[in-house]
Amino acid sequence: MAIERTLSIIKPDGLKNHHIGEIIARFEKAGLTPVGIRLQQLSQKEAEGFYAVHSARGFFKDLVSFMTSGPVVVMALEGENAVQKNRDLMGATDPKKADKGTIRADFAQSIDANTVHGSDSLENAKNEIAYFFRETELQKY
Ligand code: PPS
Repeated sequence: MAIERTLSIIKPDGLKNHHIGEIIARFEKAGLTPVGIRLQQLSQKEAEGFYAVHSARGFFKDLVSFMTSGPVVVMALEGENAVQKNRDLMGATDPKKADKGTIRADFAQSIDANTVHGSDSLENAKNEIAYFFRETELQKY
C-alpha cells in the first residue's frame, strides 16, 4: 500500500477538552506518524482561506467562528493509506452518526464542534499540508 501524507487538525473543542494526547496516540497506534506539527491560533483570514470551498454553505460563518474560537493543532500525518486511514479513525462528520470507537463518536459534542478535521482526498491533502507547512518543516524519523 502507498505511503501517503494527510492533513489533520485537532479543533478548538479537542484542545479545550484536553484530548490532544489521546487523539495523537490513536494516530500513532494506527501507523500514522506526525511529520509536521504545530499548535496555533487561526486568524479569521486563515480559517476562511482554508474552508474557502465551503464559503457558499449556510454553516460557513459558524464554521469559521468555531475554528477561530481557540487554538488548534495542525499536523501532517504520514503512513500507509494515510488519507483513508485518518478518515476511518475520525468517523462521520456528525458525531451522532459516527461509528463507535472513532474519535468523533468518543470526543465530539456536535456536528459543528466535531473535534478533528482530515483531508478527504490525496489531492486535497497535498494542498492542505502546503497551506500550513513549508516543506522544510516536515521531518523524517
Ligand atoms: S466533509 O467531511 O467535508 O464531507 O463534511 P461536510 O459535510 O462537507 O462539511 C464540511 C465542513 O464543514 C463542517 N460542518 C459544519 N460546521 C458547522 N456547522 C455545521 N452545521 C456543519 N456541517 C458541516 C464539517 O465538520 C466540515 O469541516 P471539517 O473541518 O472538514 O471537518
